Amino acid sequence: MQNISLRHLVRVDDVATEDVYLLIQRALELKKGAEIQDYKQKVFASNLFFENSTRTHCSFAMAQQKLGMSIIPFEVSTSSINKGESLYDTVLTLDALGVDIMVIRHPLEAFYQTLINQASLKCSIINGGDGTGEHPTQSLLDVMTIYEQFQDFKELKVVIVGDLKHSRVAHSNARLLKRLGSKLFFCSPDAWWDESLSNEGERTTLDECINEMDVVMLLRVQHERHNDLGFDQTEYHAKFGLNETRYAQLNEKAIVMHPAPVNRGSEIVDVCVEAEKSRIVEQMRNGVYMRMAILEAIMQERTQSK
Ligand code: CP
Repeated sequence: MQNISLRHLVRVDDVATEDVYLLIQRALELKKGAEIQDYKQKVFASNLFFENSTRTHCSFAMAQQKLGMSIIPFEVSTSSINKGESLYDTVLTLDALGVDIMVIRHPLEAFYQTLINQASLKCSIINGGDGTGEHPTQSLLDVMTIYEQFQDFKELKVVIVGDLKHSRVAHSNARLLKRLGSKLFFCSPDAWWDESLSNEGERTTLDECINEMDVVMLLRVQHERHNDLGFDQTEYHAKFGLNETRYAQLNEKAIVMHPAPVNRGSEIVDVCVEAEKSRIVEQMRNGVYMRMAILEAIMQERTQSK
């Protein structure tokens, strides 16, 4: 068993660098079928998704089930949110009912701040994505996937491509991969460039850098976060998309990543989605094991602090 304890996980900076490696090791053990801990008493988890999700929602549910946790169902559309209940009051309610861990996705950036500052709340909060802010569990499963290929991060060349401004995945991965020692490059249309990323790496074009990269990380165009006025998919794909010509230029050990869902034909052509160098499906698979490792780390802290 890993020796990590996490009270909440809302930003990648909540996980110390040595604990990132421990989480990866534990997730890899779980992937190989390692025994899971018996918590003796029931652990209750609830997943509150105020934005749509397939991967994060279902892989947390799978991870919770595999760990023997009970899931208290929560659907925004049938909850008292529709009667004006605030996020804080929803969390206060589930906390009072005895829910131990809440995974929350919400459009408001840093929605979690008021919750984790509230000492009277006993539950642990996991950020399943806060607006354009962060997506820490996606980033941890991404670094697990990179580690599986390279067994290290130092000096790895990673290019993050696309809608940088609106992508919480880009923000978490840039922070975490820089901390782990990777060399970062960014490609995006000017309108989707995020100046804060200039602290983390260098801006370039995909055609200039692709043959030197170890990891090509594509991002979903976040259509729901901008009005799309002037967006031309053919033009975007020509400059920022992975096609067969660019795929052929990848170096031998290079891998292609995308947090998904994928806009096929926009960020990546169909034939590259499940190509040999693509790790897109493996990222989804790894998400279950990394989320199990994160849930275990949170349970460790909760057991110790009792
Ligand atoms: N990558 C990701 O967060 O996917 P979902 O939006 O389907 O959860």
